[in-house]
Amino acid sequence: MKQILKELEAKRETARQGGGARRIEAQHAKGKLTARERVDLLLDEGSFEEFDMFVEHRATDFGMAEQKVPGDGVVTGWGTINGRTVFVFSKDFTVFGGSLSSAHAQKILKVQRQALKMGAPIIGLFDAGGARIQEGVDSLAGYADIFLENTLASGVIPQIAVIMGPCAGGDVYSPAIMDFIFMVKDTSYMYVTGPDVVKTVTHEDVSHEDLGGYRVHAMKSGVADGAFENDLEAMTQVRRLVDFLPTSNRERPPVRVSFDEAEREEPSLDTLVPANPNKPYDMKELILKVVDEADFFEISPDFAKNIICGFARMDGQPVGVVANQPQVLAGVLDIDASRKAARFVRFCDAFEIPLVTFVDVPGFMPGTRQEQGGLIRHGAKLLFAYAEATVPKITIITRKAYGGAYDVMRSKHIRGDHNYAWPTAEIAVMGSKGAVEIIFRNQTAEELVAREAEYKDRFANPFVAAARGYIDDVIMPHGTRRRIVRGLRSLKGKVLTNPWKKHDNIPL
Ligand code: HXC
Repeated sequence: MKQILKELEAKRETARQGGGARRIEAQHAKGKLTARERVDLLLDEGSFEEFDMFVEHRATDFGMAEQKVPGDGVVTGWGTINGRTVFVFSKDFTVFGGSLSSAHAQKILKVQRQALKMGAPIIGLFDAGGARIQEGVDSLAGYADIFLENTLASGVIPQIAVIMGPCAGGDVYSPAIMDFIFMVKDTSYMYVTGPDVVKTVTHEDVSHEDLGGYRVHAMKSGVADGAFENDLEAMTQVRRLVDFLPTSNRERPPVRVSFDEAEREEPSLDTLVPANPNKPYDMKELILKVVDEADFFEISPDFAKNIICGFARMDGQPVGVVANQPQVLAGVLDIDASRKAARFVRFCDAFEIPLVTFVDVPGFMPGTRQEQGGLIRHGAKLLFAYAEATVPKITIITRKAYGGAYDVMRSKHIRGDHNYAWPTAEIAVMGSKGAVEIIFRNQTAEELVAREAEYKDRFANPFVAAARGYIDDVIMPHGTRRRIVRGLRSLKGKVLTNPWKKHDNIPL
């Protein structure tokens, strides 16, 4: 018996070595941790239960019969994050470059299916060179099976991808279907086709980094929802994110004891909005001062910075925060901001996370680039996402709520539950200057100044909307936290359903 136990331990040790000491060293030399080291950092200490450590590929072509490594390039299993179960797969770049064989795919499918069945989040750590070139179509079939599971799990369990090395070819579409993609700065890149293929097809010379590094995806394309300095920070931050999320759509978001006074007043908010309506201020200051313990997990902080999205807690209850950022492009809604916020709102609605929206928006971005890029359809995404959402929704207008953007930013008309405005709010079709220049086109400059003052008096305030019941109250800025917390409490029993349909047809 003792001998058998020893043999088992020896087999396990071989599997733990992955592609061997030389390749592990090379991995470390690139500033990357190994697949197992990452899992250890991600999960609660000692909680990881590994599956399929001894799985091997079954390929025979190109001398593969002689090259087998137990585990076949991916570490899979489950463990806990702060006590709650999550399923994990972590690609092992030291084994065939983490490339996907049929057996490797079966391992991932097993944890995907278990996660869905158990109602637990799945986290994929990517560091791989795409399809196992020696396996051909079996590898492609494996990818398609994974994509299907990702799709079926969408909206049922949270799915999080972290790109921690190469993520090429077939590997990109599993993360793309998942809810969040994070990258590690300088060591990760993701693209459908690599620099060599790009050179052949378009004759462009481009580096891995310029083609698919974090600067591309976390700042320009919006494919990634954030980028972290290194593997350690990435794993720590994913743990933090998971804490805000329910384990599945069958569970409520996890409410924690809050050490921040629920009715805390914040007098400094009374002077946050500058007297000059064209002067920016930092909307993040408002968010940090209002949420529990200034703890805010921002999604896509470096992409479409004119809108802020992220998770926080109010009196211990997780909420999704969406806010225009007057500091960037005056907080205007453009294509990227609309895409970013729409996706975030839909995630929150799918997982019953209440939405808190802070509004200071001068409208939609004008211009040929925006119109040619499809602003109408992209803007409609955010409108659609807010309109279909049935979670509790609280909206605070701090300053501008102009034009169509007033409607879109979770107005009463699209089923906002509690809609408040600060006394500094201006709810109008457009800014006073633009308005009088249109309706009093033929008047002199002097007359226009008078007209503008008249228009401002009449519309640049929250009271016209309040008189119609379009906002529920004009509130003191210092009492914002108290009003939101009380609002969320009152909405706990909210029941709202949409008409039956197979699925909707969101303007994709
Ligand atoms: C088998 C692979 C591999 C692959 C890498 N390796 N990619 N083995 N299949 N796809 C192996 C290498 O042979 C090498 O083995 C080890 O992994 C490390 O690779 P290196 O090239 O030395 O590493 P590095 O210089 O860091 O470059 C990483 C890389 C490069 C950029 C990812 O390996 C690369 O370009 N790989 C091929 C990428 C690719 O074209 N994949 C197919 C995409 S098509 P040794 O033994 O030396 O350690 C695709 C279609 C699916 O995925 C579509 C489904 C929808």
